[in-house]
Amino acid sequence: MNVNEAISQRRAYRSFKHVEITQELLDKLASAASLAPSCYNKQPWRFVAVYDKEILDQVHQALPKGNQWATEASLIIAVCSKKELDCVIGEREYFLFDTGLATANLLLQATELGLVAHPFAGYKPELIAGVLAVPSDLTVIALIAVGVRGDTISPNLSEAQIRDEQQRPPRLDHDKFFFNNRYGG
Ligand SMILES: Cc1cc2nc3c(=O)[nH]c(=O)nc-3n(C[C@H](O)[C@H](O)[C@H](O)COP(=O)(O)O)c2cc1C
Repeated sequence: MNVNEAISQRRAYRSFKHVEITQELLDKLASAASLAPSCYNKQPWRFVAVYDKEILDQVHQALPKGNQWATEASLIIAVCSKKELDCVIGEREYFLFDTGLATANLLLQATELGLVAHPFAGYKPELIAGVLAVPSDLTVIALIAVGVRGDTISPNLSEAQIRDEQQRPPRLDHDKFFFNNRYGG
């Protein structure tokens, strides 16, 4: 699979079936994340890969009704960072940007491996941090639900989520966000 195919095939699907989580898989995801660029190569990202059944059960307690689909994922990765781990140039804080770049690499690597990797922000962060022993000065920026796409649509999905399962949510036209030579041009 080339880069363009991975970008095109990556989707935030919400229906999963079980997949065995191996150290080899985790190493591949970590390698892809680690090769992302970052300001002064500070590598501010921290990931906690959760696949232990008991800990996963506790993570599930932090999910709202709308994200119950994530309880079917075999792996949930918590994406963490803090401002102090990366460049701060005037008012520009780079930790979220750089951690996002690493996360994008991880999502594409998962896609190439035939997996769904769905990032999401709807959870109780203090519960997640407590269960995963994330140091209190770090922010749990997102969770990523990882698994193999299910053959059938999860019964946990709303109508809108079922629509997203069948068709990629629409994107802005290029002229709304990608300008030539001058902003808005
Ligand atoms: C920062 C972030 C937060 C998100 N939060 C949620 C969420 O809480 N629940 C959910 O079902 N999807 C969530 N998503 C997934 C988006 O809804 C999805 O990526 C978007 O609709 C585009 O669909 P696609 O990724 O399949 O192209 C989130 C994605 C990102 C990047």
